[in-house]
Amino acid sequence: MIAVRNATQGDRDDILSFCANTFSWGDYIEQVWDLWLHDSQGKLFVAETEGKKVGLAHVAACPDSKDTWLEGVRVHPSHRRSGLASALLGRMLEFGEEKGATRALAIVAKNNAASQRMMERNGFSAISEWAYYSTGDRIDKRSSNARLASADELDAILEYLEASRIYELSAKTYVKAWHWYALDHASLKALVSEGRVVISGTPVAGMAVLNRRGYWNRKNILQIVYLDSQDEKVLGNLLAFATNLYLDEKYERLHVLCQQDEKMTSIIEGLEIQESEQFLLYSKVLNS
Ligand SMILES: CC(C)(COP(=O)(O)OP(=O)(O)OC[C@H]1O[C@@H](n2cnc3c(N)ncnc32)[C@H](O)[C@@H]1OP(=O)(O)O)[C@@H](O)C(=O)NCCC(=O)NCCS
Repeated sequence: MIAVRNATQGDRDDILSFCANTFSWGDYIEQVWDLWLHDSQGKLFVAETEGKKVGLAHVAACPDSKDTWLEGVRVHPSHRRSGLASALLGRMLEFGEEKGATRALAIVAKNNAASQRMMERNGFSAISEWAYYSTGDRIDKRSSNARLASADELDAILEYLEASRIYELSAKTYVKAWHWYALDHASLKALVSEGRVVISGTPVAGMAVLNRRGYWNRKNILQIVYLDSQDEKVLGNLLAFATNLYLDEKYERLHVLCQQDEKMTSIIEGLEIQESEQFLLYSKVLNS
């Protein structure tokens, strides 16, 4: 018999005892436990069977959109293939529906076949393929004609995006603290006003969205969280803008999250890369 309930602080050690070496690189649950437990937009769930705490998952409502975000599904290795993850997913989907969400989204590493099967078995389909890079220290300053977009360029950017194949392939999303959010008129307007949208060319021939504040407890990381151009020179200018900012403001790392597109990934791979991974964005329509 499986029971899914809200997590409490008392669950921490039991859960972390099987969430330390989940992947070849370890796991990140310890870093996010407090954030997730106290998340006012979401819920942290624990799954139990026979009185043992053997599963975990976090769900969050995406502010300003009809999406709900699912993450951190973990099942104790001795209790897998007994429906625990499916029970957690079911509870998270209920949460999304209670909040009036029309879509549930989640990200799965491309090399995680078990999780991909789990998502598909629970009615999700992959809608977009993303690449993540963490660059090394050997980056040089380069000249760039890219610039921060101003509010009066918003319509031109939207026009560019509407015609962009990359935007379509990105499922019209960008990344915020490892959540994928809708990149639409409202979010783009806010991003432009926060000085986070970089463009190149007149008319606009490419754009990037920056995150200057890192995520979780890793605040000194600069991220490109959306990248879009089919022109190599434009991509070079957008990347140079970000790398110059990384050097000038002495960030600890530069991350790039972008569509798994050959032209874009090959130009990024020209930088010194320390880590890279590919992800699939999964989606399921909800009956709210
Ligand atoms: C992926 C994971 C959460 C699945 O948990 P689980 O409780 O075993 O999943 P369920 O029992 O609910 O499985 C549901 C379906 O998913 C698929 N599935 C799950 N594990 C699988 C595996 N190892 N290989 C192939 N398919 C698998 C099957 O279709 C399964 O249905 P079935 O058992 O009737 O065939 C678990 O293996 C785990 O914790 N892995 C490490 C952490 C991780 O990868 N989390 C997801 C990050 S996105």
